[in-house]
Amino acid sequence: MTLESNPRVGQRRRASFALQVALALIALCVVLTACSSSSSAQTSSNNGSSLRSAVGNWKIGTAVGVKALRGDASFRKVLAQQFNSVTAEDAMKWVSVEPTRGTYDWSDADQIVAFAKAHGQKVRGHNLVWHRQLPKWLTNGNFGAAKLRTLLKRHITTEVSRYKGRIYAWDVVNEPLDDTAGLRGTMWLQKLGKGYIADALRWAHAADPKAKLYLNDYSIEGAGPKSDAMYDLVKSLLAKKVPINGVGFEAHLDLNYGFPSGFEDNLKRFTKLGLEVAITELDVRMTLPATSDDLAQQADYYRNVIAACRAVKGCVGATVWVFADKYSWIPRFFPGEGAADLFDSKLKPKPAYTAVLDELSKTSS
Ligand code: G3I
Repeated sequence: MTLESNPRVGQRRRASFALQVALALIALCVVLTACSSSSSAQTSSNNGSSLRSAVGNWKIGTAVGVKALRGDASFRKVLAQQFNSVTAEDAMKWVSVEPTRGTYDWSDADQIVAFAKAHGQKVRGHNLVWHRQLPKWLTNGNFGAAKLRTLLKRHITTEVSRYKGRIYAWDVVNEPLDDTAGLRGTMWLQKLGKGYIADALRWAHAADPKAKLYLNDYSIEGAGPKSDAMYDLVKSLLAKKVPINGVGFEAHLDLNYGFPSGFEDNLKRFTKLGLEVAITELDVRMTLPATSDDLAQQADYYRNVIAACRAVKGCVGATVWVFADKYSWIPRFFPGEGAADLFDSKLKPKPAYTAVLDELSKTSS
């Protein structure tokens, strides 16, 4: 009897052959799976199919409201796909985090931060000192200057410390200027004097020395008295060695008012002071109903903002103030206007989205 004709040897050989085939198949499967997942990762990062895949580390962000975040799976999908930075639309404001004196509610803010972490997104903090969305216990409290200063310091220290290391930039003082280009006559200015701005920046810096600290305002995008006033303000803070790192240009634009003139040069002059700049609340509203010409013009505005920011070395990113018309603040605040965002009320991309994607892809290095 030869070895081949021995049934036991034949059985063993067949079993070992089957095992080798199985192992080879498993190995092939692993390679194929790895190839296919790496090729799909490459597709999504190289074919410019999303805003975030077109920009690398540059920040393309959006404001996020918790209502949409909690209740709308399509919103969450677009949010995760398109953006690498998020800003809490309302959840980090004083009224949201300390509605009752001494009782904090971080649930909304935490949820946004957790979503961002789970989706590889960075978080911009918005905001620490403002004249709106303050809790009633604070505005009605009739506190004297010393007490108010203590409360403000505690608020800034508590919030910045809580998110230390998890927030890359804070809007420390929001909208410090009024529409006549003077310091806004808020409770903070009236009771604490203009030093409240420097104090707020110093307290925020002490709580998280690595976070970039910003002043943020609207109608400072183009050349004009208000942007000059911001320029002078930050220059005087820098001269006093106050810890300030950047200026946020909100960019709530309106087709009815035209595109701000000298946008890029204006951004540039702030960076020449050694500051970074960012577009922090971009949207472009229009009178409703929107025509296709309006939407095309809106796309040009978005493109021009992105182009200006990308052309300036210290412009670190652009954030849209919510990405979908469905969740925009505009109709509530400007009756008869709207359609301000990159996606429509059904979360479908608009010409503005295509323009931004195109501009980002063109200028990505
Ligand atoms: O959460 C309360 C709710 O409890 C209450 O029942 C309801 C009744 O009005 O109000 C709800 O709060 C509203 C809040 O949005 C959350 O939806 C406030 O009334 C409303 O005023 C608030 O609007 C926010 C607005 O700031 C306040 O000024 C917008 O969502 C927000 O997009 C907007 O964002 C600002 C930036 O922070 C700073 N730059 C300008 C920008 C646009 O105004």
